[in-house]
Amino acid sequence: MAKAIWITGLSGSGKTTIGKGVYDKLKRKDSNTVFLDGDSFREILGNDLRHNQQDRLENAKRIHRMCKFLVSENINVVCTTMSLYKEVHDLNRKEINNYIEIFIECSMEELIRRDQKELYSKALKGKLDDIVGINAPFDKPLNCELIIDNTQLNDLDTKVYKILELIGDIK
Ligand SMILES: Nc1ncnc2c1ncn2[C@@H]1O[C@H](COP(=O)(O)OP(=O)(O)O)[C@@H](O)[C@H]1O
Ligand SMILES: [Mg+2]
Repeated sequence: MAKAIWITGLSGSGKTTIGKGVYDKLKRKDSNTVFLDGDSFREILGNDLRHNQQDRLENAKRIHRMCKFLVSENINVVCTTMSLYKEVHDLNRKEINNYIEIFIECSMEELIRRDQKELYSKALKGKLDDIVGINAPFDKPLNCELIIDNTQLNDLDTKVYKILELIGDIK
């Protein structure tokens, strides 16, 4: 049976990197597997949503609906998205078969140090609103199946393996 692996965390925590690692391994075993990254998904749908609270929530709901659809069509989804809304986590758990939620943890201090997209520094200077973790709230997943601490940028293979082990797809 297909499953949805929902990998979440703040911007820069390592979702895409770790998720892509999981996807590559899963895909080799089952070609009916897709990688759905929140940023790419926005683009695929024509970048019609912005990053305010309302649009972030709408994007999360779209991703929820897409995951639900794909799993119902027996396609595995490795989904990497911030989408840190309890409402959406609850909806996922209720409506998506074989839903597995993984939180990529990283200290705020380290995220600010990484500042890959310069979102945090701009938000801290008051130049940018709606940056989750700085001036926009988020719901930390409470019932997730696994938390991976990625505060240190190391052991990528081990972190990927932990997820594969959880979902029972080691190869
Ligand atoms: N475990 C890791 N080992 C080495 N580099 C990592 C690891 N996790 C993340 N990175 C690096 O950290 C940065 C942020 O990761 P990314 O996956 O883009 O985060 P997110 O998708 O959560 O915004 C990238 O430059 C990525 O290459
Ligand atoms: Mg990413």
